[in-house]
Amino acid sequence: MILEEIEKLKKEIWESFEKIESLSQLEKFRIKYLGKKGEITSYLKLLKDFPLEEKKRLGKELNELKSQLEKKLKSKEREILFKEEDKDLGLDLTLPGRFPSVGTLHPISQIIDELCEIFSRLGFEVVTGPEIETEYYNFTALNIPDWHPARDMQATFYLKNGALLRTHTSPMQIRAMLERTPPLRIVAPGKVYRCDADVRHSPMFHQIEGLMVDEDVSFTDLKGILTYFAKEIFGEKTKVRFRPSYFPFTEPSVEMDIECVICHGKGCRVCGEAGWVEILGAGMVHPEVFKAVNYDTNIWQGFAFGLGIERIAMIRYGVEDIRMFFENHLMFLQSFK
Ligand code: DAH
Repeated sequence: MILEEIEKLKKEIWESFEKIESLSQLEKFRIKYLGKKGEITSYLKLLKDFPLEEKKRLGKELNELKSQLEKKLKSKEREILFKEEDKDLGLDLTLPGRFPSVGTLHPISQIIDELCEIFSRLGFEVVTGPEIETEYYNFTALNIPDWHPARDMQATFYLKNGALLRTHTSPMQIRAMLERTPPLRIVAPGKVYRCDADVRHSPMFHQIEGLMVDEDVSFTDLKGILTYFAKEIFGEKTKVRFRPSYFPFTEPSVEMDIECVICHGKGCRVCGEAGWVEILGAGMVHPEVFKAVNYDTNIWQGFAFGLGIERIAMIRYGVEDIRMFFENHLMFLQSFK
């Protein structure tokens, strides 16, 4: 009889426990069942008149119910308090946190770092120099006298005092050689300027110049080092080819192409259906250039190269419009994280 009553009570207790939503309901519940005159307490009091065996059995049952209930009420209370706190703060504490947005290096800076790292490994020192140059370093010392048509191809911004915005990083060859004694190996990354603007040209862009001077440097070193660099940047399977070319400050001169990384030689939009993409100019340092820095051409030989950083980045990332690098749209920049 009493057992049935207790079972009924249990059912009632758990049912109404589920309905508790506020602290006041919780308090009422506690008084109703666990208070001094509460139902569980009253049953426990009743037990003293029961035979020993039953007293033990029912006592155990009721005490277990009581301690279980006390535990559940505690966690319920915590839950309600949390919810009310959330309401006070006007936030949902279950929402994921906000991550601080950490910046990233510009894709052009990333490529520059990578190039410097590759050439450092080959013993090249990284140097930088002025973007405002003199005509002498930018042209004359590089065997481009003022009547030379190569000057027209690199129209730039001249200042009234004769200084100009450098059109390439090649003047760093002259500066580096004057500041050092051979043998030497340098790479010089930096900004250059030309009067040029379309999807593939920007009036400001970046180049990296390389120069190696030693007693026994040959065209083989040029090919070996530049092929190694291409494979490091574009992958082990990258094919390269060298085409004869002309630059006033090298003789012989070449241009290096890589097999198009998009179509692998078949021809596509990126390579203009050619299957190959030109990535740099290079050659053996011209004796006139050595003369300008007073290096004895009977002892010293060298090779030089210059390449456009944006070019590398465009091929590497499949970017078709050079201007995207300088418009600074966050969506674009964030894709290089
Ligand atoms: N300065 C050249 C340009 O901007 C690139 C270049 C070609 C650099 C051959 C070199 C070189 O050092 O050897 O078009």
